[in-house]
Amino acid sequence: MTQILQPKEFEKAIKIIKQGGLVAFPTETVYGLGADARNQEALDKIFAVKKRSLNNPLHLNISDVNLVNEFVEKIPATVQKVMDIFWPGPLTIILPLKKGTLPDIITGSLSAVGFRMPQNEIALALIRSVGIMVGPSANISGNFSPTRVEHVLADLDGKIDAVLDDGESLGGIESTILDVSTFTQPKILRSGAITREMLEEFFPNLQVIKNKKHYMPNVSIIIINSQKQDWSDAIAWAKRKRKRIGLLTDKKIIEKFANHVHATYVLTENNDINLAVKRLFAGLRKLDKIKQSLDVVFVQSFDGEGLTLAYRNCLLKAAGS
Ligand code: TXA
Ligand code: MG
Repeated sequence: MTQILQPKEFEKAIKIIKQGGLVAFPTETVYGLGADARNQEALDKIFAVKKRSLNNPLHLNISDVNLVNEFVEKIPATVQKVMDIFWPGPLTIILPLKKGTLPDIITGSLSAVGFRMPQNEIALALIRSVGIMVGPSANISGNFSPTRVEHVLADLDGKIDAVLDDGESLGGIESTILDVSTFTQPKILRSGAITREMLEEFFPNLQVIKNKKHYMPNVSIIIINSQKQDWSDAIAWAKRKRKRIGLLTDKKIIEKFANHVHATYVLTENNDINLAVKRLFAGLRKLDKIKQSLDVVFVQSFDGEGLTLAYRNCLLKAAGS
């Protein structure tokens, strides 16, 4: 059984992690799976319970910027500035690893290592006590990242020691990953709430890499852009094909078409992108359930840059395109 701990019980969580256990914990993006980064057995367990491939590296969670110096030879002034401005916050930064300072299992034998300082008091208190903590998203690899305790339990109940409950994650999608391990070509490996525009000020030649890894939803996802496509046409098409339809979209559209579909999830209201980002994974998880036996889920997309771009990237990953 996995214990559900309340925030005031975080001392218990610290004890479990220090003894080599695994505790899911809240961050401002999605729930993470915390373990002591210096405990080999705990690291092995992380890969086992997540069914994570051994060549997929783990980043380090830290609560003190100075800790980076233990693992990195030299931090360039621009990167230091970016850390000072955006940490704590939803930005993971990848830097060249100082040889011999971390076990290969953390870095997947790469010569670079990622750092993250989450903006969540419970997470920071936990990390401060553990020292350096690994904390990948608390889901089985390939599933959507968890934004609620129930999602963590759906994937990992009985396989991890505890989960610290801090309600629904504020952000909803994973942190932006900035790779500055080759200083000459900074890259965004994953788009999140810290946008390309925010980072371009510091790295004018910033590259955005298209993510080739996909989530594995159980139904086909079709992306609808209201500005360019028509919901009535899409639903009429799916009905003609006798498909069981799910809708993940704005409240107004759901109210209009609820009688024509089999399952709905209110993604947002008044097309509020922040709300859509926050609810996306919860909605996809809900409508992804095999037991709903849907054939197709129509999900709303939005035009624009910044956070909207991060949202679209998550959606494209879900749609497998
Ligand atoms: O918002 C987040 O970042 C969440 C919360 C829980 O902190 N964490 C998260 O961790 O999404 P994870 O492990 O599920 O995703 C981190 C990604 C992985 O896909 C991994 O491949 C990449 O970061 N990564 C980590 N270290 C890396 C490295 N040295 N080089 C390249 N990619 C790296
Ligand atoms: Mg993950």
